[in-house]
Amino acid sequence: MSEKPVESLSESEAADELRRLATEIAEHDRRYHTEDAPTISDAEYDALARRNLAIEERFPDLVREDSPSRRVGAPPAEGFAKVRHAVPMLSLAKAYTDQDVADFIERGRRFFDRDKDLDIAFTAEPKIDGLSASLRYENGVFMQGATRGDGAVGEDITANLKTIADIPKTLKGSGWPEVIEVRGEVYMTYAEFEALKERSAAVGGQDYVNPRNTAAGSLRQKDPSVTASRNLKFFAYAWGYTTADPAPTQYDSVQKFSEWGFKVSPLMVRAKSIEELIAQYHHIEELRSSLGYDIDGVVYKVDQLELQRRWGFVTGEPRWAVAHKFPAEQAMTTVERIDIQVGRTGTLAPVARLAPVTVGGVVVENVTLHNEDYIKGFDSNGQPIRDGIDVRIGDTVVIQRAGDVIPQIVSVVIDKRPANAVPYEFPHTCPVCGSPATREINEKTGKEDSRRRCTGELICAAQAVEGLRHFVSRGALDIEGLGAENIDLFFNAGLVKTAADIFTLKDRRPAVTKALAERREEQARLREEASGKARKNVRSVEERNYEGLDKLFAAIDARREPELDRFIFALGIRHIGETTAAVLARQFSTIEELIRIGKETAKAEDPHTVFPSINGIGDTVINALRDFFGNERNDDVLDALLAQVHPKPYVVEISAGSEVSGKTVVFTGTLEKMTRSEAKAMAERLGAKVASSVSAKTDLVVAGPGAGSKLKTATDLGIEVIDEDTWLQRIGRGD
Ligand code: IVH
Repeated sequence: MSEKPVESLSESEAADELRRLATEIAEHDRRYHTEDAPTISDAEYDALARRNLAIEERFPDLVREDSPSRRVGAPPAEGFAKVRHAVPMLSLAKAYTDQDVADFIERGRRFFDRDKDLDIAFTAEPKIDGLSASLRYENGVFMQGATRGDGAVGEDITANLKTIADIPKTLKGSGWPEVIEVRGEVYMTYAEFEALKERSAAVGGQDYVNPRNTAAGSLRQKDPSVTASRNLKFFAYAWGYTTADPAPTQYDSVQKFSEWGFKVSPLMVRAKSIEELIAQYHHIEELRSSLGYDIDGVVYKVDQLELQRRWGFVTGEPRWAVAHKFPAEQAMTTVERIDIQVGRTGTLAPVARLAPVTVGGVVVENVTLHNEDYIKGFDSNGQPIRDGIDVRIGDTVVIQRAGDVIPQIVSVVIDKRPANAVPYEFPHTCPVCGSPATREINEKTGKEDSRRRCTGELICAAQAVEGLRHFVSRGALDIEGLGAENIDLFFNAGLVKTAADIFTLKDRRPAVTKALAERREEQARLREEASGKARKNVRSVEERNYEGLDKLFAAIDARREPELDRFIFALGIRHIGETTAAVLARQFSTIEELIRIGKETAKAEDPHTVFPSINGIGDTVINALRDFFGNERNDDVLDALLAQVHPKPYVVEISAGSEVSGKTVVFTGTLEKMTRSEAKAMAERLGAKVASSVSAKTDLVVAGPGAGSKLKTATDLGIEVIDEDTWLQRIGRGD
């Protein structure tokens, strides 16, 4: 770095220096904001910024367009750098009827009329309901990716786009232009959306409204690993700036994209006439509900690039393309009631009960109203919220099945609102147990959670039964034959109140038989009522042979020694999903140890004095563990459960015996593949003793970068020193 004092810089030196500082500071911003991996200290960063400012003060005429000082305060925490698109990202004109499509084609014919023999061809392909992105490739390498933004300037989301498997980091094949901005749509499949909702619900996390908004949110994550976990998809269908056309036609260009490693829509065709275009429109419309992702129409484009160029653009839209939208599948109905459902983590979820109505061939009777703010239409600060809607009991509403699957309310027909309809009062107490229902403040954002939660925990029947359903669910104890339905039955019959009761069901066989029999009777009665026929051959309850029951009891017994990570997950502690449960299992090895640390952490004033620092475990989880283990009511539940169930200690597989067993090991310097506490726990499980200082008793020193005096002592004493990789190999954990 040139350390020449600012006062002695010449004008041209100053200009050079400002250019260098702009690039350098931008790079540090990127490392800090996008990669979360700064390479210089805050003080060093400030020194660069100060020097930049001092030079600008001396040479005000040299202040650059991209000067760091113009980006006051640097980008906001989750901000992304702006990217000006070399070629603007356009939107599409819309067609709603076949006549609109005929008009589009007719306009083209008239435009090219001078060229009588001209044969215009078109392409037809689905209009994907996601977000468009522009991906810049230079010499076949993905360099930068941006959102559409306002069409002229988007946001740099390169790191996030790199996590999408459908987006090649380098192009395959050959013949790609030196520079090309490939454009297309990022979207989320229904399956992924549902899976995410489920994962989030399991840990009491946030709510997601629809796949499109969720895909948008996933792309704007500050931490790309969050984006990666969302499994977004991408279809390439267009391009912006390029040094050469991919091919002479739209259709062949998109085929080239496919050869270069992109996913392209398999439903794209080339067509010559309006009949062919409309036929493809109906074909795609028929397939719509089986695609597994949202589409909202079919896009027609002129095929020949030469003709596209001649026909050109109107403001913000190409003349040579049109989006033929599907008619929204909508229907009108009335809101009969608003019910509040209480989830496992106590979330109060409002559901509108509708007069049944058919939308696109499916009867819709319920629609989620998401949360308190959504129903009011504004948040607790009185700010209107996007997509919010003031819905009242008695209202007439327009219902739509978004992307054919999830029904939602599009609008309220205000003219039809009954005179006595009042704004919906969201309950401040739990409708199931009567405990106060509160809105928490998110520690990270300082904002109030949009959802109200019942504070009753286990005294709340709704939370209890949801907790039991979770306990036996797939990622948890996964007890065969004990699904949500049986849990509900046993819970309502008073046979299972907490998880421990599941394991003593066998001792109460007559009562279980009775509950099952009563359900069968009830079901038979309902069937009879429905069919109008009388029952024949009614056997008494005692006569019934419940062979299924022995199987059920056997399945329950088979899970008395569950894997520790499943057991931790099954406890249903807030914010502890399957991944976190596995990390905790690995860290603490036994349930007793987790409970011990959990309780001590709950008692400690500063949890960090007790709870070890573990990769992937932050304050949210630590606080959730504190709440859980600090709650005395949970003690009894856990004790009863552990009297029945013995989670297997988590064991690290040891290859060929443990070489380190009985040895005294010291870790020093930075470990790169695991945290210090993980390393310690692992070594101890293998029978080693971990010491904090090096002495003549030390057998082995594992030294990472930055090791200092301990390393020196070890060398002086002639103790064996190895690096982290060698250590991992030695304990059978190497790659
Ligand atoms: S072409 C020059 N093709 O629709 C034309 N757009 O309303 C550029 N979209 O912002 C767009 N599927 O996000 C094109 N097969 C498709 C599309 C598509 C979805 C979106 C895109 C664009 C919006 C325009």
